[in-house]
Amino acid sequence: MPEIFFLNGEYVQSDQARIPVEDRGYIFGDGIYEVVRVYPKTGPFLMKEHMERLAFSAKGIRLELPMSLEKIEEACLETMRRNEVTDGTIYLQITRGVAPRTHAFPLNAKPSILIFSRPYKGNLVELRAKGTSAITTTDDRWLHCNWKTLNLIPNCLAKQAAKEAGAFEAIFIRPDGTVTEGSSSNCFVITGGVIITHPADNYILRGISRDFVMKLAQERGLKVKEEKYPEEVLRTADEIFMTGTTTEVMPIIQLDGKPVGNGKIGPVTKTLMTAFDEAIGRK
Ligand SMILES: Cc1ncc(COP(=O)(O)O)c(C=O)c1O
Repeated sequence: MPEIFFLNGEYVQSDQARIPVEDRGYIFGDGIYEVVRVYPKTGPFLMKEHMERLAFSAKGIRLELPMSLEKIEEACLETMRRNEVTDGTIYLQITRGVAPRTHAFPLNAKPSILIFSRPYKGNLVELRAKGTSAITTTDDRWLHCNWKTLNLIPNCLAKQAAKEAGAFEAIFIRPDGTVTEGSSSNCFVITGGVIITHPADNYILRGISRDFVMKLAQERGLKVKEEKYPEEVLRTADEIFMTGTTTEVMPIIQLDGKPVGNGKIGPVTKTLMTAFDEAIGRK
């Protein structure tokens, strides 16, 4: 079945979707995006939160949204329906639009909006059941990681390094030794029964799943601390897990080739994996 994309107000077949080469998303990476997970039992999961973050990112890069948030959400849902996606993702990106190349914002450009929706094809459930591995890498990103922008080169380089090392994820460590997050996920460590994650400041993307999993943890009486922690805490953690829209709750049982804790999925991670599955109606 050909895919249907939403492009600038119209539903078009993917092979007919065209963007002028001077779109600032193409020239400068001047845009923002969101990825929403769709589950059979919940439909689009945490949609409102994704829309709120989209508005936050737009404000950050001073981009005026081409449509109201309600209309954007409706277009996401319609794209999902037209592609008959019940277990998959919705991808949405908005760029500053088409204009002759010059760094300063164009006066008359209209932001471009693209939405597509696809079935989920990953092997997350199997990976999660076994636990997986991560490497560490230098966090050499800019200082506005809290905006979900298209400028993902450091993240792509980090993920590629992980892939080449046979690992699932790369965890960023800033030059001062602070652990921030994964290349496309948030990082949690558990030491002495306490769950620690980097605060939601400008050094990380405030993951929708991060906030959701923190809430699940608190509801279960688990202690969660949002504080900066050094590399040593990561390396000596009893448990590590990553969260993300497509990552969900992913146990990391090996870090840079060494076992995390006893090398098995820990009890806190297991509790949260189960809680997440319950929340999305998987079990
Ligand atoms: C850098 C980064 N951190 C964290 C996340 C997790 O965010 P969310 O839970 O909203 O998917 C992502 C998701 O793509 C990401 O790219």
